[in-house]
Amino acid sequence: MPSSDAPTALAREFLAHPERRYVMFGGKGGLGKTTFSAATAFWLAEQGHKVLVFSVDPQASLSDIFQRDIFGKGAVRITDNLFAQEIDADAHIKAYQDEIRARIREVNNIDAVPDEIEDYIAAASAEPAMEESAIFDSVVDIVSAGDYDFYIYDLVPLGHALYYLSMAKVYDEWIGKITKLREEMREYEEMVSRLRREKETQEDQILAELQDIRSRINTASRVLTDREHTAFFFVLVPEEMILLDTAKAAEMFGRFDVPIAGYVVNRVLPDELIHGDGVPPYLANRAEMQGRHLGRIRRDFGDQVLAYVPELERDITGLPMIERMAQLMYVDGGRPS
Ligand SMILES: Nc1ncnc2c1ncn2[C@@H]1O[C@H](COP(=O)(O)OP(=O)(O)O)[C@@H](O)[C@H]1O
Ligand SMILES: [Mg+2]
Repeated sequence: MPSSDAPTALAREFLAHPERRYVMFGGKGGLGKTTFSAATAFWLAEQGHKVLVFSVDPQASLSDIFQRDIFGKGAVRITDNLFAQEIDADAHIKAYQDEIRARIREVNNIDAVPDEIEDYIAAASAEPAMEESAIFDSVVDIVSAGDYDFYIYDLVPLGHALYYLSMAKVYDEWIGKITKLREEMREYEEMVSRLRREKETQEDQILAELQDIRSRINTASRVLTDREHTAFFFVLVPEEMILLDTAKAAEMFGRFDVPIAGYVVNRVLPDELIHGDGVPPYLANRAEMQGRHLGRIRRDFGDQVLAYVPELERDITGLPMIERMAQLMYVDGGRPS
């Protein structure tokens, strides 16, 4: 078992917090979030846990890394304990539209939905809120089904994740206010109907619907902000711009109460390549630059850096490469000298 070898601080973080069931890697696009998500899922599955790695990314990047077509196919078994799922948000929207059409036909007892209503349905589905709500719904469905020991949520790039979080907060406050208003109104209505000796006030459909939307959004954003059950790791690479962005992003995530479990540094030039005789000046120069950024990372983030992962000679795709990445992250990837 990998954990019995000298595990990295990243591995120890998992072993020390078995209650953390939701795992996410955040960071800008292209830094290694999908790679780390897949390798982490692989490692946890090797440890005997039942793991789902999933994404709502329309780019189908889990299909790329596992070299399997899993897009929109539900949870697909990769190894004994490892499952991967790519949610097709568009398909969810289409299914929702079909449901609306069917209902319109049924209620009006007609065979085809009139053109002007078709136009309206098409316009509504172009709304970003529609896509978000489809995404929220699928994440909630997956997580609340509770079929797995660990859920690795392969996030969209940082900006989008923050956007979802901020939307969740805005929706929540807005719905909170409306709910309160409607509840007050309802109290008043009940009083009036008691005075009039009416049997019962009609059930408040809108209030029920609002509360339903609210609880779904809350379930989705709770996964991101749950201090006890969520581990959120930041991915960074030793480059000037990324360091600046990471500090800013970490501060923003703090504002949305997303607990940061630690940092993982990717694409560190391997020692054997940059030390010794005959290192080409080009490479020596890049290594020197990277060394400066690593120094700064150690200063700024210190013990919060849980693993250093080397730059490999090729892309990480296919199970043998994922396994190698898992080994680097959880067993070998200590501090560079
Ligand atoms: N340590 C590494 N060595 C070599 N290639 C890497 C490494 N980490 C990531 N990559 C490659 O970089 C690309 C971007 O990584 P990916 O995990 O898709 O990033 P993200 O999900 O953050 O956009 C992929 O082609 C991946 O195989
Ligand atoms: Mg990705």
